[in-house]
Amino acid sequence: MPNILIVGSSNTDMVVQTERFPLPGETLTGGEFFLFQGGKGANQAVASARMGGTVHFLTKLGKDMFGQQTRKSLRDEGISPDLILEEEGIASGVALILVEDSGENQIVVVPGANGKLSPEDLTKAIPFLETADLLLCQLETPIPTVEALAQLARKFEKRLILNPAPAQALPESLYQNLFLITPNETEASLLSGIALEKESSLSEIGDWFLSKGVQNIILTLGEKGAYFHNSSRQFLIPSQKVKAIDTTGAGDVFNGTLVVALAEGMDWEKAIQTANRAAAISVTRMGAQPSIPFRSEVYGKQ
Ligand code: RIB
Ligand code: NA
Repeated sequence: MPNILIVGSSNTDMVVQTERFPLPGETLTGGEFFLFQGGKGANQAVASARMGGTVHFLTKLGKDMFGQQTRKSLRDEGISPDLILEEEGIASGVALILVEDSGENQIVVVPGANGKLSPEDLTKAIPFLETADLLLCQLETPIPTVEALAQLARKFEKRLILNPAPAQALPESLYQNLFLITPNETEASLLSGIALEKESSLSEIGDWFLSKGVQNIILTLGEKGAYFHNSSRQFLIPSQKVKAIDTTGAGDVFNGTLVVALAEGMDWEKAIQTANRAAAISVTRMGAQPSIPFRSEVYGKQ
C-alpha cells in the first residue's frame, strides 16, 4: 500500500439544497439540510484512504464538538491520528454551502483552526514525510506552511503535489519545489494571468508553469476532463458524462485518487483516467466526504 502524507484543512460542511441561489437580500425556502465532513485536505485524505492508501494527515482542529466529530470520522476512515492536532481557543473550520438543483454550489469557508496550522507544526510530520511515497497539499491552510512543506519536500527529495485551491496568488519561489500542480480553470488563469479562452490557452498555461519550475501540470476542466502537460508530453483525457447532483469536493476526489494511483506507479494516462472516474462518481452523490468512492467502485466501473 502506498504511503501518502497529506497536509491540509478539515471542515464541517453545513449544506442546504436550494432550487436556485438567492439574490442579494432575498430569502428563500430551501430543501434539505445536511451536516457533512468536508474541507479540502480532509476530503483528499479520505479519497486517498478509500483508494487503499496508507494516509497520514496533518491538520488542525479546534477543541469543540465539530473537531471531535472530525477526529472520529477520520479514524473511522482508517486515517492515522498521529498528525491530527488541536488548538485551544479557536473553532474548528466550517463551510456554509448552498447546492443548487443543477449541482452547482456556492461556498463560504471559515478557516478557524485551519488558519493556525503553522510551519512549526510540520516538524511533527517529518518522520512520516521521510517514509512517504508522495506528498499532497492545498491552499486552505496558511501559505507559509505550504511553502515550508515545499522546502521540506525538496530537502528530503520527495515529490509534492499542490492542488492550488481555493484560488489565490502564490509566492513564485514555491513553484520550483513542485512535482505536480493541479489547478482548475479559475485557479490556472489566476496564477498564470492567462485566460482560458481558446484551445491553445491550455498549452500556454502549461508552459507558463513549466517556466516557473513546476515539473508536471494537470489542468482539471470539470466535465471536459483533465489536461496533462510536461516538457515532453501534452494530452487531454476526457471525463465521462454523468448527471451532477452535487459537485462539492469533486476536485478533492480527483487529487486524493490521483496521488494513490501515481504512488502505485501508474502512468499519467491511467492515473488521470482513474482520478477522473472517481471524481465523476462523486458528483452523482450529495456531500463532499459521503460521496467519495471506494477503490472497488472506481475499478468496478472500468
Ligand atoms: O472542496 C470542497 C470543500 O471546500 C468543502 O468540503 C468545503 O469544506 C470547502 O473547504
Ligand atoms: Na458529491
